Amino acid sequence: MIEGQITKVSGPVVQARGMAGARMYDVAFVGQLKLIGEIIRLEGDTAVIQVYEDTSGLEVEEQVTCTEQPLLLELGPGMLSSIYDGVQRRLPNLADDYGDYITRGTVSDPLDHERTWEFEAAAAPGRELVAGDVLGYVQETEVIKHLIMVPPGKGGVLAEIKSGEFKVTDTIAACEDGTEFQMVQKWPARIARPVVSKMDPNLPFITGTRILDTFFPVAQGGYSIIPGGFGTGKTVTEQTLAKWAQADVVIYVGCGERGNEMTEVLTEFPALEDVRSGLPLMKRTILVANTSNMPVAAREASIYTGITMAEYYRDMGYDVAMMADSTSRWGEALREVSGRLEEMPGEEGYPAYLATRLADFYERCGRAVVLGSEERIGSITVVGAVSPPGGDFSEPMTQNSLRISGAFWALDTDLAHRRHFPAISWMKSYSLYLDQVEEWYSENVNMDWKSLRDKAMMILQKEDELQEIVQLVGPDALPEFARATLEVARMLREDYLQQFAFSDVDAYCDPKKQYMMLKVIVGYYDVLQEVLVKGVTLKEALDVPFRTRIGRMKEIPLEEAESQLETLEAEMGAELRKLVRY
Ligand SMILES: Nc1ncnc2c1ncn2[C@@H]1O[C@H](COP(=O)(O)OP(=O)(O)OP(=O)(O)O)[C@@H](O)[C@H]1O
Ligand SMILES: [Mg+2]
Repeated sequence: MIEGQITKVSGPVVQARGMAGARMYDVAFVGQLKLIGEIIRLEGDTAVIQVYEDTSGLEVEEQVTCTEQPLLLELGPGMLSSIYDGVQRRLPNLADDYGDYITRGTVSDPLDHERTWEFEAAAAPGRELVAGDVLGYVQETEVIKHLIMVPPGKGGVLAEIKSGEFKVTDTIAACEDGTEFQMVQKWPARIARPVVSKMDPNLPFITGTRILDTFFPVAQGGYSIIPGGFGTGKTVTEQTLAKWAQADVVIYVGCGERGNEMTEVLTEFPALEDVRSGLPLMKRTILVANTSNMPVAAREASIYTGITMAEYYRDMGYDVAMMADSTSRWGEALREVSGRLEEMPGEEGYPAYLATRLADFYERCGRAVVLGSEERIGSITVVGAVSPPGGDFSEPMTQNSLRISGAFWALDTDLAHRRHFPAISWMKSYSLYLDQVEEWYSENVNMDWKSLRDKAMMILQKEDELQEIVQLVGPDALPEFARATLEVARMLREDYLQQFAFSDVDAYCDPKKQYMMLKVIVGYYDVLQEVLVKGVTLKEALDVPFRTRIGRMKEIPLEEAESQLETLEAEMGAELRKLVRY
């Protein structure tokens, strides 16, 4: 055990001497209270430690103990439904024991070491096991079967294995060479868990939100960011995705800044219902929450804790979604610590390595063939909110995230003020995954999915250009076909893009229904243009009352959508064409 003494305390950053032999990112316990921290710089026998708890009251000469181990997470049954802080301390039981917040220097087992689980062995003695192979199963919650796997770097010929009730620390299997396996694995949070190979992100991560799926899709295993100013809908979007998006397991990392923001997550999340199973969403969710009594530095750890847990479930072959709200707080943590270390500041005081840190983190998502002798595929899709101060997207955190993200969902303050929700701008957002997911849509939805989407986008872009003219000369000066474009663009905005997150029917829109709704609106555009060319006036055409029926499409349940929308499309064409006088 390496023991040193504090020489300097500067906010969450503590310096200690006598630390020779310690390594970067080793965990250290600081002071009499044994505050938990990580070594982030070493010079001679001096270590600089980033402390994840409030350092007030620490004095020089107090003792520092280096554990000579990195921040290790416990991975095993019992993580789902749990609420952890950034260094994987369980929150509710800590709250039971210590009141509303974690007392400094508290150590608790991340998994419940007393609880027993029914383990069902799947591997037979004599089998040659490699890392990732399934030893057996535990029904972790009603909805998730937990695969107990051989940890990375381990393996051997299985000598014995037993089914039955075990604690996570009990030995459930052993190899001929004496290697023993427990249901719990330990893994350093800052190191990516290995996979066999990464795959192309060519499947869509279906969210059920029309503007995201149809216009700016993210692929399964992709990385998307939601930048948005104060109150524009970051949290609502993240929670809607947590609830509806196509993922088996959800890891929700809350790095809130305002004290009550975290309380909201802690009270609201456990109350959310999983729409697929009717059970609480927590049955397939892990919450990582930074409590308000932890300093900003802890937000850094929470991101790594979250992604490591995501990797562990990915290794089982699950599709995992990780939501981080908001990654700006992580950036701020890096900035604060870098400032205290007196490093050369980059843009706006953020460290020069901000971009690399973000890129390294991003590398950990993806769709992959996971370890094991039988092929399993799992994925991690990350959706990170970014909160640029003043809603200004040119700031470093937004810009650096933008460079590495594959989908950019820009929240727009104007849209939010006009209560156009989700307030995602169709002019500023983009997706690099469009071409990659097109094949899936062609096969599973419709061949012309992409061309329909592009045409709708063209109408919206046209509207944007026309608006400038309208502001100069008024709408009446526009030719009829242009006014028809404006009319259809309005439908696209109001009847398609707007989607109320709290609606019973419309909170989730199936990709097939998204396609059919878009087909009706774009079909309306086509037939309008056709009849206008043949001499029908715009007024005559708009007098045929389709507007209300189009407006009601959202509320049609999926089962009826196909037949109702086909009828609507056919009637629209027939009625409008009747106006043509030859
Ligand atoms: N998709 C949506 N459907 C309906 N209402 C929405 C939607 N998105 C946002 N809102 C409304 O906007 C409000 C603010 O949203 P939210 O709390 O998600 O913003 P935020 O960007 O997380 O804010 P902050 O910067 O304070 O964290 C919500 O309370 C809700 O009323
Ligand atoms: Mg928020």
